[in-house]
Formats: sequence, C-alpha cells, structure tokens
Amino acid sequence: MEIALLNGPNLNLLGTREPEIYGTTTLSDIEQRVSVHAARYEMQVKAFQSNHEGALVDAIHAARTSAGIIINAGAYTHTSIALRDAISGVGLPAVEIHLSNIYARDVFRHHSYLAPGCVGQFAAFA
Ligand code: DQA
Repeated sequence: MEIALLNGPNLNLLGTREPEIYGTTTLSDIEQRVSVHAARYEMQVKAFQSNHEGALVDAIHAARTSAGIIINAGAYTHTSIALRDAISGVGLPAVEIHLSNIYARDVFRHHSYLAPGCVGQFAAFA
C-alpha cells in the first residue's frame, strides 16, 4: 500500500528556514522518518515537494492510486481553493500537516482552505 507525502512551497528549505519556527530537521530527514514509520505498517511513501500550486494539484491527481495523502501545503493552505478541490476531487483520505502551530501565529494562518476536505489536521506545538 502506498501513501503520498506532499509538501508545498518553501518546505524544501527546511533545515535552514526560520529554524526558530520550523526547527533544523530537513525535508529529506522528515521524508525518511515517515518512510521508516510507514514501513512498519507495510506501507510505502511516495514523497513529492513543489513550490508550484499546479504541480501540487497534479501530484494530488497522481495520488489517485495511493491509499491516502499526507499534505503540508505550506502557505497554499491559506490561499488555495485549487488544492482543496483537488483533494475533494480524488476522494482519498487526506491529512493536513503543519510543523508549526498555525493557530498561535499570524491571523492569516488561522484559516485553512484544505481542512474541510481532509479527514484530520495536525498542527505542531511550536
Ligand atoms: C506551515 C505553516 C504555513 O502557514 C506556512 O506558510 C508554511 C509552513 C507549517 O508547516 O507550519 O510554509 O505549513
């Protein structure tokens, strides 16, 4: 069984991007950790990152053969009806992830366009 792990804009910079907010773990480290964890459940992770909204829409469509989607859409979380429609469109269970606690940050980060199309959301405590 395969899970799509999708990361959006600027998450390729993890490790050096605002470490006081996002820590120093790189995206590659995260993808590796998720893969190791998924393997315990006999699942494979197909990881993809893009800074481009349309490429993420395409990746969601391509995930149609997967069991589900884990997505940190970065700033597109707060702006993208296209990503929300893509998630709803493929009909897969999707979980929205944030490394930071978006509700403890800027007001514009408090709203997620993706959340109503997802089965759950995880926002960290930082
Ligand atoms: C983020 C939170 C977003 O508001 C921000 O634009 C990001 C990262 C997070 O993981 O905490 O790029 O999704």
